[in-house]
Parts: sequence; C-alpha cells; structure tokens
Amino acid sequence: MKITVNTLQKMAAEGQKIVMLTSYDASFSTLLDQAGVEILLVGDSLGMVIQNRDSTLPVTMEEMVYHTRCVAAGAGNAMVLSDLPFGSYQESPQQAFASAARLMQAGAHMVKLEGGGFMAETTRFLVERGIPVCSHIGLTPQFVNTFGGYRVQGKTQSDAERLLDDARKLADAGASLVLMECVPAELAARVTEAVAVPTIGIGAGADVSGQVLVLHDILGVYPGKKARFVKNFMNEAGSIQGAVEAYVKAVKAGTFPAAEHTF
Ligand code: KIV
Ligand code: NA
Repeated sequence: MKITVNTLQKMAAEGQKIVMLTSYDASFSTLLDQAGVEILLVGDSLGMVIQNRDSTLPVTMEEMVYHTRCVAAGAGNAMVLSDLPFGSYQESPQQAFASAARLMQAGAHMVKLEGGGFMAETTRFLVERGIPVCSHIGLTPQFVNTFGGYRVQGKTQSDAERLLDDARKLADAGASLVLMECVPAELAARVTEAVAVPTIGIGAGADVSGQVLVLHDILGVYPGKKARFVKNFMNEAGSIQGAVEAYVKAVKAGTFPAAEHTF
C-alpha cells in the first residue's frame, strides 16, 4: 500500500516508528522501498554527498527536480519527500508554491522546508493549495552561515522554549511532519508530546515518531567527518541491502538511536 499522510498519522498514533532515509537515485530508492523504508527523502544533503560541496547552499532547483524524478521512478510504495533548496522559498509564500509545485510535478508527495514559526504562513499557503509540508527545525543546515557552524540547537532554556513554540506554530499551520535535527533528546520528546503531528528526529534521541539518516552515512561511504548521531550499519551487515534492513529494524525496534548517538 502507498504510504500517505494518513498512514504516517496512523503509525504515530499506534506508536509504530516511521523510517525515513535519504535517497538520490532510482536504484537505491527501489532497494530502500523493498527494505521497508517508508519515506525517501530527496535531501539537499546531495550537495555534500553527491557533489562534495561544503554546505547545502549551492544546491539548485534544477538539481532537486532531477533527483526527485530519479527517486520517484524507483520509489514503489514509499513516500517521496523533497527538500526545497536554499533560495527557492524564503522570499514569499508565492515563491515557495512555485518551487514546491515543480518538485510535486517531478514526483514528490511532500516538500520539506527549513525554519521556525516565521515559516508558518508559507506552510499554510502550501498546505491549502495541495502541497503537504514537512517542517525542519533545530539545526537547519541552510542557516549554517548565521549559526556560524553546525552545532546542537535548543540547549538553553530560552532556545528550548522557542523551538517548542516553533513546532506548535508549524503544526497549527498544517505541517504534516515536524523534523528536528541535533536537539537534546529531552527537548525532542517534549516537542513530540506537544504537537499532534508525527515528529522525525536526526540527532534528536529516540522519543520521536520516527528517524532519518543520510544514506551515505549508514553505508559508511561519506568521506567527511562523522557526526555523533550517525551509525554505520554496513560494518555489521556486510551488504548494502543488509545495512538498510538493519537500519529499518533498529528504528522500528527503538534500538537506534542509542545513548551514544544522542545529545
Ligand atoms: O538534506 C537532508 O538529508 C536532510 C536530513 C539530514 C534531514 O535534510
Ligand atoms: Na536537507
């Protein structure tokens, strides 16, 4: 059965963990779908793992459209979630709609955009016009230049309250998923309690509705620095299919992430 926004709601309500993994081409998408990955994220992380850039900022709409088309071609029943790249949505809800429509026409079923409460208006604009939205908060890599680096977010009391408020505003605006990157596990758990929509974590602990990692990280093929929240599933599995299946199994069982992957 095709994974839809309803499937995700139902899974979260029943306490079944949602498994998301990035994918950038058709062959991997078929393998991931068959291994039980529910959401294929066409992440702008492709700027780093496919293009060897040092941030996600140079990734273009054309590149996101191309990779979305490739992933959709191999996706099977999995949901295709595509990132809106830097510069394609921040200007106005109208700009965001025009960009998101291109990703939907390329085969996406949902789009992801970075930013807190100030993105609520854009989120509502997209959702009302037929485009489901995944909100990305916490460490939002497109903000690396204003953050001054990649670091854990929501560590102080006031930052934590702001993140909680952001999540509420985005959920109220109609977001289908709230994704949190690199936030303390305790805060991610509070957000998951506070909002009615499923939450997805990366470096956000185990008390969320689902997990996401970058494909190249679980396979151990990304030559860059390995973040604390990453686990190489290839070491124990010995094959690509085995590694993906081990990731799916660990997320479903709640054994990944462990304390060592958590802030
Ligand atoms: O681009 C990406 O891969 C992402 C995940 C890290 C959440 O946005
Ligand atoms: Na991204």
